[in-house]
Amino acid sequence: MEYKNQKIADVALILKKRFDDTENKTDILKAIELRSLYSEISTLPPDERAVFGQEINNLKQELEGMVAEYSEKAEALPSIDVTAPFAANTKPDERPRLFTSDQGTKHPLTTEMERINDIFYRMGFEVVESRQIDDDYHMFESLNFPEGHPARDDYDTFMTSDGLIAPAHTSTMQNRVLSERKEALERGEDIRVVIPGRVFRNEDLDATHEHTFHQIEGIYVGEGINAGHLVATLQTYLSEYFGEELKAKLQPFYFPFTEPSFELAIERPEQLRKDDSEEQRWLELLGCGMIHPNVLKMAGIDPVKYSGFAWGGGIERMVLMHHGIEDIRHFNSGKLDFLRQF
Ligand code: DAH
Repeated sequence: MEYKNQKIADVALILKKRFDDTENKTDILKAIELRSLYSEISTLPPDERAVFGQEINNLKQELEGMVAEYSEKAEALPSIDVTAPFAANTKPDERPRLFTSDQGTKHPLTTEMERINDIFYRMGFEVVESRQIDDDYHMFESLNFPEGHPARDDYDTFMTSDGLIAPAHTSTMQNRVLSERKEALERGEDIRVVIPGRVFRNEDLDATHEHTFHQIEGIYVGEGINAGHLVATLQTYLSEYFGEELKAKLQPFYFPFTEPSFELAIERPEQLRKDDSEEQRWLELLGCGMIHPNVLKMAGIDPVKYSGFAWGGGIERMVLMHHGIEDIRHFNSGKLDFLRQF
């Protein structure tokens, strides 16, 4: 628009230029230059006031039109993602390295646990997840640790102030799993269940010990089940998991809930040993044995007619061995450099 009055024409020029740089566009309507034009009206001779006033109104209308046009366009623009972790013009190699949602990966433990569950599924086992809070009965009593039993002290349990227990092993599930399947057993169906889950121990932490880790428990009960079945099942499991036959040894041990009880260790491949000692040669993987008659009885199962085996062992240790990971603490660290390798 053309303005005849020179003063108004000058202000129009200034304000139109300023409009582009103004962040909040409506501010232009409150510009001091515009207000001072209005205040000039009263200083003019009366016959000039109407024309001058009309021209200022025209300028104001023109500016209002620009503001309206701008906000219409702004609404049509795509909205800015205020959660974006970097400015859009950051050079690609200076951008933080993040996973986009379609590049996210499963935690290595999740992947390995799925593999392990799958191995047992193919061997005819059901999978039941363990609980993360339990009670004294399931942690100890139902597993044949009577009150005051010294072996209770072998488990450095975390307890809540009202006496509940963060399970120190997945064996807390044995009584539940056995009781729930007792009738099916009596109808002639063997009990075959694996129980993966998270467990907690008040341990001193180092490269092979964590306070929070995972175990997988296994239970098999039927008629005429013996230790030979136990060994065959574990052998199949380990060779399926590692994809090769590793040397294993079964040595006598003590658990109140199995009789006899054993500990199974596998031979570490040489490249994963820190030195030549016997200690470095063997990695204790799991505890196992024939289920104690008292444990079967407490679940309402007749130990004369039925027998079974059980085992329970750490999952992280298997994964450490499998992938040659040097420190168990990486799993809970949340470090992307570690996680990206899987
Ligand atoms: N719960 C034992 C532990 O964590 C391991 C274990 C040993 C589980 C023998 C079993 C078993 O089911 O039969 O130390």
